[in-house]
Amino acid sequence: MSVRGPLLILGFGGHARSVGDVALAAGFKRLLFIDEHARDGEAFEGHRVLSTLPKPDGDYWQAFPAAGQNFRREHQCQEAPHPLATLVAPSATIGIGASVGEGTLLARNSHVGPLAQIGRGVILNTGCVVDHECMVGDFSHISVNATVAGRVKIGRRVMLGAGAVVIDNLSICDDVVIGAGAVVVDDITMAGTYVGVPARPVDRRKPLTDDAVDL
Ligand SMILES: CC(C)(COP(=O)(O)OP(=O)(O)OC[C@H]1O[C@@H](n2cnc3c(N)ncnc32)[C@H](O)[C@@H]1OP(=O)(O)O)[C@@H](O)C(=O)NCCC(=O)NCCS
Repeated sequence: MSVRGPLLILGFGGHARSVGDVALAAGFKRLLFIDEHARDGEAFEGHRVLSTLPKPDGDYWQAFPAAGQNFRREHQCQEAPHPLATLVAPSATIGIGASVGEGTLLARNSHVGPLAQIGRGVILNTGCVVDHECMVGDFSHISVNATVAGRVKIGRRVMLGAGAVVIDNLSICDDVVIGAGAVVVDDITMAGTYVGVPARPVDRRKPLTDDAVDL
């Protein structure tokens, strides 16, 4: 779509500023941030931040969900007042046959391999790699410099921390958090938080001590 009316960016947190940066690099000329906590006169590089949505001014508007938290971004996608844009940084690369959903961000230097399927409202953050034939579910976040090897299936609302690695052909179910720097070497079939190399559930890593046993 060549229309470049104002892009409504939903939110004005840290991630929203990264979204604004990519939107400008991708060619949007006018941004409007909407954040209920906005203070009077706040702006991002000359682009206004408002606390409530103004009436459309006749231009075609698109919206973009910019909450960093997965569940909040899911809500933003469901309640978006306008059609959702897909934002792709000029330095991002997309392999042949790959698909990318609405409301999804491909940040600078991110890479989607051939035939991968990336859902709606997904964040593929700076420098991450999602390799060939992977599937990434709606509202997930692949953080800065994380690497997902080929044919991995990632569920919905998964947070893969900065620099984490998932080896090829694995599955990660919905609502999983993988800590920064973790290496996932087995399927993950239960929602929860996993850290370390190899990645293990946070609350099951500690050996049982006497303190933990109810005698
Ligand atoms: C995994 C994570 C979500 C855990 O956060 P949390 O639920 O608040 O957990 P805590 O900080 O209480 O840590 C729980 C335990 O896990 C350990 N831990 C936390 N993160 C870890 C990590 N990334 N690698 C290894 N161990 C980790 C803590 O040391 C602690 O261990 P202990 O119980 O032996 O003291 C968080 O530490 C993390 O890695 N977030 C990713 C952030 C990120 O990559 N952001 C990128 C945005 S682009």
